[in-house]
Amino acid sequence: MKVDLVIKNIGKLATMRSGKNPKVREQMNEIEILENAYVAIGDGKFVDIGQGESYKKIINQNSKIDDADGLLVTPGLIDAHTHLVHGGSRENEFSKKISGVPYIDILKQGGGILSTVKSTRESAFEELYHKARKSLDRMLELGVTTIESKSGYGLDMDTEIKQLQVSHKLSKDHPIDLVHTFLGAHAIPVEYKGNSEKYIEILVNEIMPKIKELELAEFCDVFCEEGVFSITESEAILSKAKEIGYKLKIHADEIESLGGAELSARLNCISSDHLMAASEEGIKMMAKNNVIANLLPATSFNLNKSYANARKMIDLGVPIALSSDYNPGSCPSENLQFVMQLGCIGLKMTPYEVLNAVTINAAYAVDRQDEIGSIEVGKKADLVVFDAPNIEYLMYHFGVNHANKVYKDGILVVD
Ligand code: NIG
Ligand code: FE
Repeated sequence: MKVDLVIKNIGKLATMRSGKNPKVREQMNEIEILENAYVAIGDGKFVDIGQGESYKKIINQNSKIDDADGLLVTPGLIDAHTHLVHGGSRENEFSKKISGVPYIDILKQGGGILSTVKSTRESAFEELYHKARKSLDRMLELGVTTIESKSGYGLDMDTEIKQLQVSHKLSKDHPIDLVHTFLGAHAIPVEYKGNSEKYIEILVNEIMPKIKELELAEFCDVFCEEGVFSITESEAILSKAKEIGYKLKIHADEIESLGGAELSARLNCISSDHLMAASEEGIKMMAKNNVIANLLPATSFNLNKSYANARKMIDLGVPIALSSDYNPGSCPSENLQFVMQLGCIGLKMTPYEVLNAVTINAAYAVDRQDEIGSIEVGKKADLVVFDAPNIEYLMYHFGVNHANKVYKDGILVVD
């Protein structure tokens, strides 16, 4: 066994090891915790996990030994829903929002997503790259080692490609791994206002196949919402996406209860995201088809809206992931630890459910469950040393960064 590094003296090691499927119900509230543990790493992957001093039997004179100082260690956190790459910011809409103008009305007036589309179209590749890189640095400091990154602020061939190319370059250059999603159906661009059929036609017949051909995105997503893409339109777009080889995601039932949860189940989406207004029937259908509910409580917080009914979803057997939704409109924050704290306070999930939701279940939400999300032999050695005595403390002491050290592929990247 090749051992490059051993991290010893781990007070509590939350392995998040599980069976074959994303965790549901009781499993979501269970975490294997090894005390006085160590992990051994070779070629960027876990090669052994154990307790006490038994690592001494597997090391050689070249093995490096790090000390976790008796602290809590978890897998690297996974943020399975971000709109990382975009131009500009929208603080100019902030006071409108505070005074109560609905999110969707700002979009209808040509602001919101469309104002970010304008900035993104006007931004050079390097500008988008440097802005997004700064956000990735923040995420890494907070213990995030993999994120999903959506396009959707181009809404034309060239800008959608530009956004996704920035995302790919960042994945190469930055320690954080990025999973890429095409979200051309994020809004109807101004040049097609009142002519949405034409935009959808171009989207499915030209842009979507081109992005696939260039291998720029693995997932396809749609903003299915009243006044944006209807159920019928979303179904047509996602069905076509499936046909040409995309895995599916959907922004469903965020504001209005349209039947997005039901649609995500019918189409066997990997995840259905937001779901603040999802119907009980839709939740039941998701449970049956094992669709992950990817909940985004910082968006509820920031829009001052109700939280998704996570307790009902858990009771009905839906696997839950939690993500940031980092974007310049509905959630201008990269802070997944704050999302975890809101998971408890807003969604009423237990700290154990929350930790499962940002590790193993989030890995399933980006279809990386065989590589990341838990501390198991053969998986990537992505982990966080938290300056916290236990898991509960991470969610209880809110608004601060608890990450002390971060390892990505077995390399210490935050110290
Ligand atoms: O997930 N809801 C749609 N899309 C984003 C918001 C994008 C924006 O406002 O720029 C979301 O909340
Ligand atoms: Fe989103």
